[in-house]
Order: sequence, then C-alpha cells, then structure tokens
Amino acid sequence: MIIAANFKTNHTRKSTKAYLGKLNSFVAELKSDDTVLVFPPSSALDNFDLTDNISVGVQNAYPTEKGSFTGEIGLEQIEEFGLTTILIGHSERRHVLGESQDEVAKKYDFYKSCGFQIVYCIGEPKEVREEGIESVIAYNFSQLEGIDISYENLIVAYEPVWAIGTGLTASNEQIEETLALLNEKIKAPLLYGGSVKVANTKEILDIPNCEGILVGTASWDVDAFCEMVEISKKQ
Ligand code: PGA
Repeated sequence: MIIAANFKTNHTRKSTKAYLGKLNSFVAELKSDDTVLVFPPSSALDNFDLTDNISVGVQNAYPTEKGSFTGEIGLEQIEEFGLTTILIGHSERRHVLGESQDEVAKKYDFYKSCGFQIVYCIGEPKEVREEGIESVIAYNFSQLEGIDISYENLIVAYEPVWAIGTGLTASNEQIEETLALLNEKIKAPLLYGGSVKVANTKEILDIPNCEGILVGTASWDVDAFCEMVEISKKQ
C-alpha cells in the first residue's frame, strides 16, 4: 500500500521536522513496509534522515532546472535535498491556480525525464459526477492527455474534486466502480483521495484496485496519519 500525506499550505519548517521525526520513529517501530510519502510545503524541504520506506516529495515545481520563474522552484532547488518525488496535477493547482492540462503535461514530461517518482492526480468536479459514470471516466481520461501512463515511476491518485477538503467522501461503490474503470487503462498503482480520515481508511483500502490513499486535512495531525499507516499495515 501507499500512504501519502499532502500538507498543502500547512505546517512550518519547524513543525514539519517534528512531524517527520515522530512519523519516522512510528514507522520504524511498526516495521511497516508500506510506502509512506509526505509532501510538505516547499519552505520546509530539507535533508531528512528517514527510514527507507518514507519519502518526502514536493507538492509542485516548475519544469526547469533553474531560471527566471519568480516564485517557483526547479530541479536544482529540489536536488539540493536529494528529493525525487513530486505531486503533479493536484486539483487545487488545476482549479484554484489555473494550471492547464498542457502545463501539467509539461511538468510531467520534465520530471519524468529526471526519473522522479510522480504522484499524478486526476478527478472530476461535482457537475461531471452528476452526469454519470461515463462522463466521470471521460473527464478523468481527458486529464491523462499528454501523459505517458506507461512510466514506471508513476502513481495515479483519483481524487474527485467535490470530495477534497469538503468532508464528503465518495461512496465505496463510487470509488470501486471508478477505480475499476480507470484500471482498465492505467496500469500504475491507483490511490484514492478526498476526505480520507482515520475512520474510513480501512474500508477505502479494502476496495478492489485501491493501492493506497492520498490524505490532505486528516494527515496534518501526525497521530492521525500514524494511525492510518498502522491500519494499512493490518490490512
Ligand atoms: P483532503 O485532501 O483529504 O483534505 O480531502 C486530499 C487532497 O487534496 O489530496
């Protein structure tokens, strides 16, 4: 299983360090062999000394080694910390920050060429979900345009936009049906994200074709995130 925490614009450099220290001891003691990914804000990136199955990644980066892209970070800033994992296509970047599929695909190509592990997010808005499963799948597939889905270091996170940060989780039936259809095309591991919390972790991880979770809000509390890692170990 893959258990991932997306801090978004939460946690400081200091609190990220404390969080990772606690998570690291917990995972080492638990002897979990799940893959644990943590995406802190870029101001908190550092060289962390972590057990092998925990990786820190970046939430976003510009498709460049370095250059004149005010406010962005590129490969050089990420490499300083030896990080090789990136989140691309998150719905907040697409819908709040206006990233187009073309821009998302450029980032994907660049960080793929650098050999990064990419957690690539897709997911439909509410009005598309209301149109039915065919529209849902067509919308999600349109977010794969320009993306090499045969890339060996790819993980795909299915995160319905209407379930992100809203407390509204997709039903287990909706997740199961959607993941099964996505799995017909995508051979990479599929995660579910969208209001995952301790209380629903087990049932979501039990869904066929679900190989893990991408957690926002509930992951910001290290104890809750550790509990999710523990639940996954018991699966
Ligand atoms: P959420 O966020 O868990 O707060 O819904 C998930 C995500 O945005 O990755």
